Amino acid sequence: MPEPSHTTSTNSNSRPEASRSSAHHLPRDSRRRRRKHGPGALRGSRLLQLPRITDPRGNLTFVEGSAHIPFEIRRVYYLYDVPAGAERGGHAHFGLHQLIIPLSGSFDVILDDGHGWRRFRLDRPYRSLYIAPLTWRELSNFSSGSVCLVLASAPYDESDYIRDYRDFLRQARAAG
Ligand code: TYD
Repeated sequence: MPEPSHTTSTNSNSRPEASRSSAHHLPRDSRRRRRKHGPGALRGSRLLQLPRITDPRGNLTFVEGSAHIPFEIRRVYYLYDVPAGAERGGHAHFGLHQLIIPLSGSFDVILDDGHGWRRFRLDRPYRSLYIAPLTWRELSNFSSGSVCLVLASAPYDESDYIRDYRDFLRQARAAG
């Protein structure tokens, strides 16, 4: 199968790059707003405890779309080899639902729905975070070797992204 044209191949000896994405420089506007307004309740996003089968041979967790999470899974992607100090996210989606699972290691996720914001430390593979549409997210403080698994409700679509924080606030407020 031919490689998608946007695929960036790296040689196996190269170090992971943190600098490509605009998300590496997280919008100052969102930080400024959080400094001004303390944390508050989110309207739809929340922590979701996933089923856990504990076993002396090793534990097992599973996700069945409609049974455990509020959407059907249409895409899976994961972040790994995240360099120390790197930040990801820095955007919202119009319609996408997502579930973030810290498969390995730990990291912080800030969620902001335009009405309230909260910071979550994700550090157990059965403790996942559901992100509702129209929610700004910023991921940071990745521990060494951490892996962030994301289940999503739709295939990748750049037109579903809101990458400007002020634009996001306008959209979130218009949605009520
Ligand atoms: P982005 O969603 O901005 O990354 P993050 O929120 O983790 O910082 O995506 C980074 C790049 O990867 C961007 O160029 C789009 C591309 N991408 C895909 O091609 N498919 C995908 O499923 C995802 C999530 C991203």
